[in-house]
Amino acid sequence: QKRKTVAGILAMKKKGEKITMLTAYDAAMASMLIAADVDVLLVGDSLGMVVLGYDSTVPVTMDEMIHHASAVRRGAPGAFVVGDMPFGSYQSGKRDAILNGGRFLKEAGCDAVKLEGGMEVCETVTALERAGISVMGHIGLTPQTATQLGGYKVQGRDLESAQRMVAEAKALEEAGAFAIVLECIPDELGRIISEEIAIPTIGIGAGVHCDGQVLVTHDLLGMFDKFIPSFVKSYCKLAPVIKEAVSEYNAEVRSGAYPDADHSFSSDSNLRKLLGL
Ligand code: KIV
Ligand code: NA
Repeated sequence: QKRKTVAGILAMKKKGEKITMLTAYDAAMASMLIAADVDVLLVGDSLGMVVLGYDSTVPVTMDEMIHHASAVRRGAPGAFVVGDMPFGSYQSGKRDAILNGGRFLKEAGCDAVKLEGGMEVCETVTALERAGISVMGHIGLTPQTATQLGGYKVQGRDLESAQRMVAEAKALEEAGAFAIVLECIPDELGRIISEEIAIPTIGIGAGVHCDGQVLVTHDLLGMFDKFIPSFVKSYCKLAPVIKEAVSEYNAEVRSGAYPDADHSFSSDSNLRKLLGL
């Protein structure tokens, strides 16, 4: 698979080809996702909840993101990798955003970064683009500010907020973003925003009319059951498979069935004697 570029991703929308994006946090998974031909890997700050055990994405640090994004890059050298800017890494201004966004490119080998927000981040998006850092926007339900939005719930249901969201999408496009994640909005609003802007929309809980889709990989695989939004489709249920395998291992270790001769290194049966014991 040839490594995608920003231009290639933009071209997919023009050609009407759907974009698939999935989250990755480590090398092993990144390599499997790319082998399955995913278009874009997102090192999401969902890392905090899915892998690091935090209650929200807010505590995730830049160092944690760089640590995992580097692993994803090592596992998938040919992937288009987007690093998710964690809470606090871009809100304080353009300079911080460029320094932190730059780390994703310099230290982790990412192709682009993603950040949450509408009008309030547009100047930052432009500054990043001018600094040579491609930016994916993210509007609708923005988990980093979910408490201000009244929790994890559908956004853009009333006319006023739908109108604002269309304006935010246009402003982000104008600011220079190359794509926008639309999270948890009605499908008709997803369609309208996708039609109103030339850059691709990548939906999560935003209906089928978006130019692409993204899911948290652990949700898709049925590996994370703490909090499952209704828009998530689990394509398999790995959690019970893992539990079963581990229970079997425990039973075999406890009974002495594992390791058997096939899984051991044989040696001279006279070893005790040879050692003079
Ligand atoms: O952090 C994340 O995984 C995300 C996607 C769900 C869009 O931001
Ligand atoms: Na995120």
